[in-house]
Amino acid sequence: MSGVFYGIGVGPGDPELITLKAVRIMAGAPVIAYSATEEGESMVRAIAAPHLPDGRIEIAVRTPIGRGPAAAEAVYDGYAAEIARHLDAGRDVAFLCQGDPFVYGSFAYLHERLAARHTTRVVPGVSSLGAVAAAAGVPLVRGCEVLSVVPAPLAEAELETRLGAGDAVAVVKVGRHLAKVRRVIQRLGLMGRAVYVERATMENQRVLALARVRRASAPYFSMIVVPGNGSRSE
Ligand SMILES: C[S@@+](CC[C@H](N)C(=O)[O-])C[C@H]1O[C@@H](n2cnc3c(N)ncnc32)[C@H](O)[C@@H]1O
Repeated sequence: MSGVFYGIGVGPGDPELITLKAVRIMAGAPVIAYSATEEGESMVRAIAAPHLPDGRIEIAVRTPIGRGPAAAEAVYDGYAAEIARHLDAGRDVAFLCQGDPFVYGSFAYLHERLAARHTTRVVPGVSSLGAVAAAAGVPLVRGCEVLSVVPAPLAEAELETRLGAGDAVAVVKVGRHLAKVRRVIQRLGLMGRAVYVERATMENQRVLALARVRRASAPYFSMIVVPGNGSRSE
């Protein structure tokens, strides 16, 4: 019998925010896969570490950064083939994802290669959207407010259109785009409500009003939220 391919959300950073279901499946899967940097570190493995039993086969999925889509496609093809060999041999594979697997997760690239031929199940995780709102200490959306989730790498003009369209916004993948996002938020008159959150729920979490952030770029795990102002009741 074939193994099952699991996408497991391990939450935003605090190992206590991993679900009971994720822990149970990780404990039973003989093969554990996770994204890692090209040099070796894996934040997602570090989050799950307190719950990972010894003696598992581990696959660190290392994808090239900045070498174009063709290089990344070839790398994902290779990892999909490696995972498929385990599944065909009857071994379950648990692919660990930071936050939730289907919210900007690299799991999607393996899912699209494997789901047609292999039984695939997704265990949702606590996404960074909720974690960042909790860290900021403000409700993100209330009543009939519309939340826009916007990736910071978008061109400045599109960013402005998207940020202007929602009642509340969450800007993800801020990184080296911090200055651009600040400019757009300033132009839209949203600076007063904008909150910058670094590494929500991790030990070195930081929360600041965006207006007080002086740095030019942000770490990978950072987000800017502009919560709704509560003006759209049901
Ligand atoms: C590739 S996406 C992965 C999102 C993840 N699957 C989720 O459900 O939260 C990575 C982006 O999510 C945001 N992010 C993820 N975890 C975060 C955290 N703990 N604190 C702040 N932002 C976070 C950052 O904007 C980061 O650049």
